[in-house]
Amino acid sequence: MCGIIGYIGDKKASEVILEGIKALEYRGYDSVGIAVIGEDGKIIIKKDRGMLDEVSKKVDFLEMDGTLGIGHTRWATHGPPSFENAHPHTDCEGKVVLVHNGVIENYLELREELMAKGHKFSSETDSEIVAHFIEEYRKNSENFEAFRKAINRLKGSYAIVCIIEGEKKLFLARRNSPLIVGFGKGEMFCASDFTPMLKYTKKFVPMDEEEIAVVEKDGARFFNLRGNERKKKTIEIKWSAEEAERGGYPHYMAKEIEEQKYSIKESFMVDVRKAGELVKKYEKIDVIAAGTSHHAGLMLKYLFQKELKKKVDVVIASEYRYVALPDKETLVIAISQSGETADTLQAIKFAKKHGAKILAITNVVGSSITRIADETLYMNAGPEIGVAATKTFTSQLAVVYKLAFPERDFSYVADDVAGLIEKIREKAEEISRKLKFAKSVFFIGRGICMPIAYEGALKFKEISYIHGEAYAGGELKHGPLSLIEKGVPVIALVQKDETYEKMIGSIKEVKARGAYVVAITDSEEIGNIVDDAIVVECKEKLLYPFYFIIPLQLIAYYTSVERGINPDKPRNLAKSVTVE
Ligand code: AGP
Repeated sequence: MCGIIGYIGDKKASEVILEGIKALEYRGYDSVGIAVIGEDGKIIIKKDRGMLDEVSKKVDFLEMDGTLGIGHTRWATHGPPSFENAHPHTDCEGKVVLVHNGVIENYLELREELMAKGHKFSSETDSEIVAHFIEEYRKNSENFEAFRKAINRLKGSYAIVCIIEGEKKLFLARRNSPLIVGFGKGEMFCASDFTPMLKYTKKFVPMDEEEIAVVEKDGARFFNLRGNERKKKTIEIKWSAEEAERGGYPHYMAKEIEEQKYSIKESFMVDVRKAGELVKKYEKIDVIAAGTSHHAGLMLKYLFQKELKKKVDVVIASEYRYVALPDKETLVIAISQSGETADTLQAIKFAKKHGAKILAITNVVGSSITRIADETLYMNAGPEIGVAATKTFTSQLAVVYKLAFPERDFSYVADDVAGLIEKIREKAEEISRKLKFAKSVFFIGRGICMPIAYEGALKFKEISYIHGEAYAGGELKHGPLSLIEKGVPVIALVQKDETYEKMIGSIKEVKARGAYVVAITDSEEIGNIVDDAIVVECKEKLLYPFYFIIPLQLIAYYTSVERGINPDKPRNLAKSVTVE
């Protein structure tokens, strides 16, 4: 997946776009490129392989004058990162230039058709064929028609922004990949998400599925794929540009961990009445999610089953189609921070086809998931830029808790979290220094903290590049114990509830084999049997997850920093995974 952006107005396009790409880099960062229409109407392109900072040292993007342009930051799917495969891509003559996010599934067949007609390709990407198709259709049609006809040939997913020599317009198309149009005063924007545009405007139209738009300096027109015009309403986004920026923190992740003191509060204020009615009506509930959101789903299951006695299945989004049996008696709760995760979107489309009702929990207004869902709960966590989900996870938890216990007020947790972060920061850093040379770290938990052990392990591995795996304490003896030897780190989540004695048993099992054990616990006594402990104070047993995840986020963050890794941009990953 990639980040794309377009600008038309009076400002220097390369400047606006360059800054925008920086904000979109979380979506992919193996190559970057910008194209601008110069004063003479001709298109200039500059691009290369590498992250923006690296490429900017070699390529002077700001050399390009012009007030209309497009930009791209890439996460490779078709063709490895290289100069040739970096976007923007062009037709044979360099007159049609575009950026694309998504995957054109029928590109091989289309490429052959174009090659037979004499088109020459410069890259291995699926995206380039779109420019050549526009070129082909331009032979007999005006530019809009040529663009529309080309888009109609594509199967798969696309968000495309295209410029054509001599045209003062941006041509846009969207299917299964996000694309948002931003309305400024005498200037217009488009991008994969709101963040690069917030500085200039708060008014947006998120494009719909299978939609085309033509954007000029003073506005935009929207069409379906048949070319019929559609009326669209703008929505207002309240996030400030500052909210979306780093604000003095060394990394977005550090900022976002701290912001939990606000975001948790916001999320506890979400109005769950309508969603709650839905939940009451259904006996069969399937939760669909990926990664961190899946762990929030496991928490939902715990709360609904254990506390509300309501049966819930939680299925990894990419597996849903193969194992689930949705029908009209099923309520699907789809959890996705971005609302754009392709695996989750495909799973809910499948569920919907079989008659299921869809309730979405997401952070992004107007995201794709909200268009498929029958009902949406926004978690209101504010923008999260770091690839590793932190504040959106605790916000997902808050929404899930609110859904389970609409009458309860848990919002004091947010203040506790603020104090907790400060109290344990140093200890977390100290532990990270001990973990940074480990080959593998095990996370064990039970009961209400089991999903937190999974989340701790995911956070740890994704940004430290050290293998981390979570097991239920009781599972150790069924296999993983053979991996425990002198010095192997085990992080044990030990809460003082019905699982307490059993967890102590698990700690003793690994200690006896020489493990270095760190406890995250609300029990002072545990200090005597482990090597290191982070003691948290938790007022209600039901709320352990909020208190136990904070040390794990901090340990993951500091281990990553200790190892010289940028936790905001872990290799091979991207913030929202818009390909299956
Ligand atoms: C979280 O730290 C990960 N980067 C990742 O697992 C993420 O939670 C997953 O890709 C799902 O994303 P979503 O919530 O936007 O659907």
